[in-house]
Amino acid sequence: ALKAVVFDLDGVITDTAHLHFLAWRSVAQEIGIRFDEAFNEELKGISRMDSLQRILRHGGKEGVFNDKQCLALAGKKNDLYVQSLASLTQASLLPGIREVLAEIRAANVKIGLASVSLNAPAILHALAIHTAFEFCADASRIVYSKPDPEIFLAACAGLNVRPEEAIGIEDAAAGVEAINAAGMLSVGIGPGLGHAGLQLHSTRELSWKCLSDFWSSRSVLE
Ligand code: G6P
Ligand code: MG
Repeated sequence: ALKAVVFDLDGVITDTAHLHFLAWRSVAQEIGIRFDEAFNEELKGISRMDSLQRILRHGGKEGVFNDKQCLALAGKKNDLYVQSLASLTQASLLPGIREVLAEIRAANVKIGLASVSLNAPAILHALAIHTAFEFCADASRIVYSKPDPEIFLAACAGLNVRPEEAIGIEDAAAGVEAINAAGMLSVGIGPGLGHAGLQLHSTRELSWKCLSDFWSSRSVLE
């Protein structure tokens, strides 16, 4: 039976994916690197330092900055990002999220979080939904970014469920890969996620009915 649903945060629960983009774009501009939202797709689900490395590679500046300079660039990005988070309120939840969280809870299924963002706890508080989560994987203890399954496995372990008993929800290609690699069923929100077990256009389509129908349609095949 389905025992848990594990959510990604940025781009699934709230639209911080765009705020990450704006902060990185501004830091990148300062070092002469331009990038657009298409390239930004490749940064979704990728940790802060790994994102910086990808941006430097994208701009042909790999190896140009030493460790200290890289930490400073990442710090600058985070300062800008954290400033932009000040505008987050309960109204910043993506459509349908509040409702689906309540429905999952009412069905007695556990809810977990698998975000590699070190800002995740502060964001959940700003959105006033931290109490909906029974367990949030600790990003500071995660070694490998998505698509590695590490963070989803940590979330399942913390919820005390097996990955085969859980659904993961993601907006990033690397995130869907991570869910699949963990052995969970994957739900992808948005375009370009053909490898998700269930693809939805928007969080509006998320509901307990859609998740439980997906779960039973897949478990019949086993
Ligand atoms: C999420 C986002 C990434 C971000 C990462 C780290 O995975 O999708 O864009 O780089 O978290 O976030 P942080 O807040 O720790 O810099
Ligand atoms: Mg995301």
